[in-house]
Amino acid sequence: MHKGDDVCSVAELKPGEMKCVFVEGTRILLSNVDGKVYATSDVCSHALAYLSDGWLEGSVVECPLHGAQFDVVTGKALSAPANGDIETYGVTVADGRIFVASAQLTSAKG
Ligand code: FES
Repeated sequence: MHKGDDVCSVAELKPGEMKCVFVEGTRILLSNVDGKVYATSDVCSHALAYLSDGWLEGSVVECPLHGAQFDVVTGKALSAPANGDIETYGVTVADGRIFVASAQLTSAKG
């Protein structure tokens, strides 16, 4: 079964860290929440800012530009001025590598 695109090693993403990777030209935010890896869009739903430049606390990422917050597990927008949720993507960890499925699990909704 195709696991998705090999984006980086598990060792590159420690608990509490996040990182931007590219899957088929799309910016993906990888977040390690207590040892589990999640993938979402790296682009804020408010304007053009990269969430990987922001801050991760638990499962909540804060946008560096105007402070909107998103849950990296569900992609849900948690605070203004977000304009809707962010996409989430499937993640598989195997043989010390992280794979991200290019198909979205959810779509951002207004
Ligand atoms: S661009 Fe992210 S809150 Fe405005």
